[in-house]
Amino acid sequence: MRYEVVLPAAGSGKRMGAGKNKLFLQLQDRPILIHTLTVFEQDANCTGIWLAVKPEERTFIQELLTAYGMTKVKGLPAGGEERQHSVHSCIKEMKEVDIVLVHDAARPFITQEIIVRLAQTAYEKGAAIAGVRAKDTMKKVTEGVITETVDRESLWVIQTPQAFRFDLIKEAADVAEKIGFLGTDEAMLVERLGHKVHIVESSYENVKMTTKEDLLFGEAILANRSR
Ligand code: C5P
Repeated sequence: MRYEVVLPAAGSGKRMGAGKNKLFLQLQDRPILIHTLTVFEQDANCTGIWLAVKPEERTFIQELLTAYGMTKVKGLPAGGEERQHSVHSCIKEMKEVDIVLVHDAARPFITQEIIVRLAQTAYEKGAAIAGVRAKDTMKKVTEGVITETVDRESLWVIQTPQAFRFDLIKEAADVAEKIGFLGTDEAMLVERLGHKVHIVESSYENVKMTTKEDLLFGEAILANRSR
């Protein structure tokens, strides 16, 4: 199933505390951004990559793309204040696509096996997102005191990629912009329209590089994969 992918890469990465875009930090021998891009460069089903970038980082990112031989990037539109705005600026530039994947540029360990299942499910059903089952006991807490132990069986930790039929995510993103609705992921925008979103079981390795400890996990995953 062919698809194009939107990679929001315009965050400030405050929680990483690196003093620069965390996507430029190295894991083993290359920047996180290049690890993520390489997955899609190597996937024959991926027909185009859209990168949302900060305007002041565009030239540097273009230099990285050239240095690492990345050939599939179709556009680098300016990102926005929130991740949702960054994704939307890419969607506005896309045309004649059936399936769109939205994937955090900060999740470099996504595998083609999961991508295929997401794209196929989105093609058949409209919307499919990656997630893993909650491993820990989950409780609700108010002012430091437990108010409820939540049934873990129905709880999933949601990741990206999130895959959609193009017309569906375009409508959902346009409506959200029009009414000023801000979601924490793209699926929320589609859920708002009353459309079913399906879950595809992903991997615990598909972590988002968010804080400094995540870089340690990242190095360990890469070392394990190259063994
Ligand atoms: O901050 P967080 O790690 O949750 O961001 C997820 C992804 O969204 C990152 O790849 C980041 O660069 C991107 N992002 C963006 N525009 C924003 C905020 C985040 O493109 N305004």
